[in-house]
Amino acid sequence: MLEEGYPFISNRCERLRTDVFRTRLVLRDVVCMRGSAAAALLYGHPDLTRVGAMPATALWLLQDVGSVQQLDGEAHRHRKAMFVELLMQPRAVDRLVHLFRDAWLERLTAWQSMRQVTLLPEASLILTRAVCRWAGVPLPDQNGSRTAKDLAGMIDNTGRFGPRLWIALSRRDRAERWLQQIIENVRAGRWNPGPETALHAVAFHRDPEGDMLDIRDAAVEMLNILRPVVAIGRFIVFTALELSRDELWCHLFQGGNDELIEDFVEEVRRTAPFFPFIGARAKKAIEWEGHGFPQGQWLLLDLYGTNHDPRLFKEPQEFRPQRQLSWRQQDYAFIPQGAGDTATTHRCPGEAITVEIMKESVRLLCREMDYRVPAQDLSVRLNRIPAQPESGFIIDQVQPRR
Ligand code: HEM
Repeated sequence: MLEEGYPFISNRCERLRTDVFRTRLVLRDVVCMRGSAAAALLYGHPDLTRVGAMPATALWLLQDVGSVQQLDGEAHRHRKAMFVELLMQPRAVDRLVHLFRDAWLERLTAWQSMRQVTLLPEASLILTRAVCRWAGVPLPDQNGSRTAKDLAGMIDNTGRFGPRLWIALSRRDRAERWLQQIIENVRAGRWNPGPETALHAVAFHRDPEGDMLDIRDAAVEMLNILRPVVAIGRFIVFTALELSRDELWCHLFQGGNDELIEDFVEEVRRTAPFFPFIGARAKKAIEWEGHGFPQGQWLLLDLYGTNHDPRLFKEPQEFRPQRQLSWRQQDYAFIPQGAGDTATTHRCPGEAITVEIMKESVRLLCREMDYRVPAQDLSVRLNRIPAQPESGFIIDQVQPRR
């Protein structure tokens, strides 16, 4: 797995001519699977849970204990409704996109005097500033660069071991303590973020029994909003990479063609290696398509492999926006951020935000600025999780476009 990375499950499925196989990973028995039927299983079966389905360090850096992703049944649906309400309403999405645009244009001024601009950390900084403003969270550092590093570091180091992982974990601790403090201030009336903000909603959210969230769980959920917005920076970099492969794309988008931008970024979400697999565990013995899984069985669904399955996507390695994919289809083939019904399954509630911010980044890159992409290492190693162009995507000679 460490050597092969993203294609690990698909490689074996091809070799064994199957969509399901059993192996051992990190000393545990696991059933690996890919394809639409497997996606429907992991995003639909009531006897599966996400508890105990991810390596502990990845869990701590990403969703964490106490988060919505670790809940099942009614408790999950109740908490999930808060995320759907906060993240999927068009007004809320628009407000975040506007703040993102403003933060980008503000940063564009600084880029003009920089010899080189590395887009990955810059996108993290812009997104940190935008999402904190949107959520009503005051930044602990004046310009947000330390916070951006902390949030981006949690994503960068999910697939790592050793010192980099430990540093990321301690930064996560720091971020959690910072958010706990803010939530305490909100509850005590010392900080008023405004009633429509995510911070207000999380601070005063009540569970089905009518109790407010434990302060730590509330901080975990706040982080579950801030960190993944910063993670969109990776998709922005893959978008910029795809634009740089053929300058005709930018020419096309400079002349309008707004409706094509969505097709373009959705194809980026299908092809870009981001979340490789998702795990689940059987709460009791289950039968599925002739396979029997005992209680406790660990299952791993190949998100990347399903998005690249030639039976679902013709010539899947080709970048083709004309496939006209959309997160709204809610099918079990195009699943970069999970599958099924967002309100009732573990499917990501941040897809609308992700797609709209990616679309805005295309408008900004093509219509608001001129830049050069100098020679650099743009290779994407598939055994680095999460993947990125090696250089982080460098641009230079940045100028606002007249
Ligand atoms: C940057 C791109 C993103 C990727 C690749 C991504 C990926 C995913 C995936 C694969 C899941 C499913 C987890 C599972 O099945 O257990 C998920 C769930 C989740 N995502 Fe995202 N996500 C992204 C952006 C966002 C954004 C922008 C937000 C919020 C602002 C967000 C918040 C969440 C939450 C709260 C869950 C847990 C949902 C649940 O368990 O019901 N994500 N994400």
